[in-house]
Amino acid sequence: MIAGNWKMYKTQADTRAFFAAFLPLVSDALHCDIVVAPPFTSIPAAVEAVKGSNVAISGQNLFWQKEGAFTGEVSAGMLAEAGCQFVIIGHSERRQYFGETDGSVAQKTRAALADGLVPIVCVGEMLAEREEGRTQEVLSQQFIGGPGALTPEEFSRILLAYEPVWAIGTGRTATPEIASAAHGFLRRCASDQFSDELAAGIRILYGGSVKPDNIQGLMAQQELDGALVGGASLDTKSFAAIVNCN
Ligand code: 13P
Repeated sequence: MIAGNWKMYKTQADTRAFFAAFLPLVSDALHCDIVVAPPFTSIPAAVEAVKGSNVAISGQNLFWQKEGAFTGEVSAGMLAEAGCQFVIIGHSERRQYFGETDGSVAQKTRAALADGLVPIVCVGEMLAEREEGRTQEVLSQQFIGGPGALTPEEFSRILLAYEPVWAIGTGRTATPEIASAAHGFLRRCASDQFSDELAAGIRILYGGSVKPDNIQGLMAQQELDGALVGGASLDTKSFAAIVNCN
């Protein structure tokens, strides 16, 4: 899977213009699932634009309640009704700036599954944690409190994304070896918590400064099942080059 996380970029007009140029560039790409996560207000325009194409639309966040007095929040059912098939949960920017915790990640993931969305659950260590040699400890903690808290059946329906915080938006991509080691570790966490079979089956995306010139090396790693792309997904040509890398 190649997924683009647009973060807080692109109006509805930008979204329509993006897909008009992007869809013809990826119409022959049958080797991977293509997903784009626009900001909430641009989701209807995106869903309309990708109708009948090989691109699916994702939310970037949700709240776990179905409805209620939760100003500013959007539910899983609302995303599904708007035409989303996926939702990103626990992105490091949500954790850093909006107080998301491993516990809220688990609740949001369950809510997404209950309404038929496929959650893309993000984990990843900060630079200081890596430098202190605590990467595995942090990943293990995020795994156990988040996706590890699901039932095996629930776990079988999610994707994971490994996004080392030091690689996000910095141009400092994890080397294919570093990414592969982290993915392998997450698979071991899944195997310990659930089973070898579920661990082998889960798709783990890598995210953090993925660009057309480094995608090939990353995807050559067997542990990497795709990419979650930020900045490079905003540009039709660079995102298409990443999709068409194989
Ligand atoms: P960049 O590709 O801009 O580093 O962002 C990665 C990311 O956060 C995707 O969710």
